[in-house]
Amino acid sequence: MEKPNVVTCTAPVNIAVIKYWGKRNEELILPINSSLSVTLHQGQLKTTTTVATSRSFQEDRIWLNGKEEDITHPRLQSCLREIYTLARVFGVEGELSGIARQGSGSACRSMYGGFVQWIMGQKDDGKDSLAQQVEPETHWPELRILVLVVSAERKPVGSTSGMQTSVQTSCLLKHRAESVVPGRMREMIKAVRRKDFAAFAELTMKDSNQFHATCLDTYPPIFYLNRVSQQVISLVHRYNKHYGETRVAYTFDAGPNAVIFTLQQHVPEFVQVVRHFFPPETNGGQFIRGLPVNGVALSEELKQAIGLESTPKGLSYIISTKAGPGPCVVEDQHLLGSDGLPKKTD
Ligand code: PMV
Repeated sequence: MEKPNVVTCTAPVNIAVIKYWGKRNEELILPINSSLSVTLHQGQLKTTTTVATSRSFQEDRIWLNGKEEDITHPRLQSCLREIYTLARVFGVEGELSGIARQGSGSACRSMYGGFVQWIMGQKDDGKDSLAQQVEPETHWPELRILVLVVSAERKPVGSTSGMQTSVQTSCLLKHRAESVVPGRMREMIKAVRRKDFAAFAELTMKDSNQFHATCLDTYPPIFYLNRVSQQVISLVHRYNKHYGETRVAYTFDAGPNAVIFTLQQHVPEFVQVVRHFFPPETNGGQFIRGLPVNGVALSEELKQAIGLESTPKGLSYIISTKAGPGPCVVEDQHLLGSDGLPKKTD
């Protein structure tokens, strides 16, 4: 048997602050508006992918989280087709975000670290619909991200079918894509470049709210936010109001989990506020994961100013993280063995 060529790569998660919602071409995955995201640090969240190739292998196979999946899935096939093309151009580095886009639109923004825009492009063939780094992860070191994982009760509507129904039925989405997002993209890039947290935060919250408004304008409507999500929104606004400045921002994707942006100096107090209003099941150390967060005491005045009803066990846990780099090739984390099959894990 020919010794296989094995390559392993890790890739980050990204969180959009200007949302992508709606395709103008379903097959090529071309969006109706540009979007912008922050790439999260792989020290806290990442995916690991191993590819093994050998002339001795009889067929293509794929495993996801150790379980074999259907390799004939159309989106998987579009990515594989392009990558084989690439392999033939041996030694030439290609523009890879165009390939990632054909797997899942928002994934193309994970091809770079830091602050990344996905330019919608105008061409019918999608050649100009690409991701581009706006600033690297080192640009704004004080920026922190908290993922508030909501104890969700059911699986929400998937993004693919959700955005399809929105494009077909929501005139608010059409207005957003044509008349709101272009200006917001310019403002957001300016806010990131200047590290203007107040401007960044306000645009982030308004864009999340408008995305969820287009979901409500979809017919039949789609609800991604639940009661806990709405309480997090109130908590953030009351916290900012108490201090008379925008210290914290929220954003929500196609599900109830909140992603919070803030500056390093505000993390300990804000996390304590969250813990106070969403007391975890036990006082165990597993509630806050990721980058360490110091404990602080809250003033009665602050608790009263927020004045929300307490929701025990509303959140499962919090992941504390920051902006991070793009995909990395790693040498020591192969998931496939020399036979091309998944390595045994217990
Ligand atoms: O690329 P998809 O199909 O996972 O859609 C992503 C949609 C949102 O997460 C809601 C917004 C975004 O830009 O990431």
